[in-house]
Amino acid sequence: MSKIYLDFAATTPCDPRVVDVMKDYWNRKFGNPSSIHSYGREARAALDESREIISSAINAHPSEIYFVSGGTEADNCALKGLAAEMMKHGKNHIITSAIEHPAILETCSYLEKHGFKVTYLPVDGNGCTDPENIRREITGKTGLISIMHVNNEIGVINPLEEISRITKAQDIIFHTDAVQSFGKIPVDVNQLGVDSLSISAHKIYGPKGIGAVYLRRGASIEKLIHGGGQERGRRAGTESVPLAAGFAEAVKLIAEHKTQSSNLISSLRDKCEILLGERFPQIIINSKRDNAVPHILNFSFDSSKIEIDGEAILYNLDLAGIAVTSGSACGSGTLKPSPVLLAMGKDESTARASIRISFGRITENEEIKEFIERLSEIVSRIGKKRM
Ligand SMILES: Cc1ncc(COP(=O)(O)O)c(C=O)c1O
Repeated sequence: MSKIYLDFAATTPCDPRVVDVMKDYWNRKFGNPSSIHSYGREARAALDESREIISSAINAHPSEIYFVSGGTEADNCALKGLAAEMMKHGKNHIITSAIEHPAILETCSYLEKHGFKVTYLPVDGNGCTDPENIRREITGKTGLISIMHVNNEIGVINPLEEISRITKAQDIIFHTDAVQSFGKIPVDVNQLGVDSLSISAHKIYGPKGIGAVYLRRGASIEKLIHGGGQERGRRAGTESVPLAAGFAEAVKLIAEHKTQSSNLISSLRDKCEILLGERFPQIIINSKRDNAVPHILNFSFDSSKIEIDGEAILYNLDLAGIAVTSGSACGSGTLKPSPVLLAMGKDESTARASIRISFGRITENEEIKEFIERLSEIVSRIGKKRM
């Protein structure tokens, strides 16, 4: 039985061209970019070029990009560093949304223990944050707003441009977690109006272990990693040139795949939604097509119509060779219902009976059909119809 991977929002395979580019930097061009000799200069040139490629992909300046270990570190550094800075100006209020990734929510909960007040905004039935709710919660103490660009569980796209109009008018720093949007939909820091943004390489066919923070020039941030002067003194530690070069190559390849793969993925998504609807009348689609990225499709089994558990579906799908997830990858393994779906107003049983499938460049039509067949067999075996 062939295995089928439908979990590209959790991670993507490294593109072979990315692996090729990285090869040289592990051994032949192994210099430390801080060394002043020729080995170091060679590594520095590669690092600079990578920064240049990544910054231009989001319409930023290279000096606004800081390499970190991934999306989680990017969110941590940005939020903790910006919060520490705003505290110096007598501000201690942060606004975020209830459906952020744990990298943001857990950082906020840490900050709450260190003198900050955090408002967790509710979302509407589609998972979207209403900019008017943000406006209502702003006080004289608000210094930072963090709203994700695209949600990792349901794929909803937030109205960042509208939110940034509010933050700019009130001189509030605006951070966004763009880990799920970068490489999938346009991310232009100037158009979005954000001051700070997180991205991660392994979501875009790049290597694991590297990501970046974009920080608008002029924005002050407290450094969190102390040591040498790397990354312009903001994130000490010898930079990983192989990973940076791989990240940059993955970014270059986005352009090559853009039109072809986004059309293909949109049509796969639509086909999948149609097939799900035809086969399972008990299904509720949680990712609304008109305001979500095409690569994420989240659905629940309506608990008023069928008794079935998402974890059991997941487990059985895995036995059947299909990799999907319920909720975010970081939250799987727990039996808790998805907080994102609860925040969208789903009842606990329906939230628990939810599945996220996510498509990638290499997903094929046949795999979708096969997924529906195997899911159908599992649902008829373990699901209990309600009267
Ligand atoms: C929205 C979002 N933010 C942050 C992260 C964390 O990124 P990383 O795995 O690179 O630490 C993820 C990973 O799933 C994510 O989806």
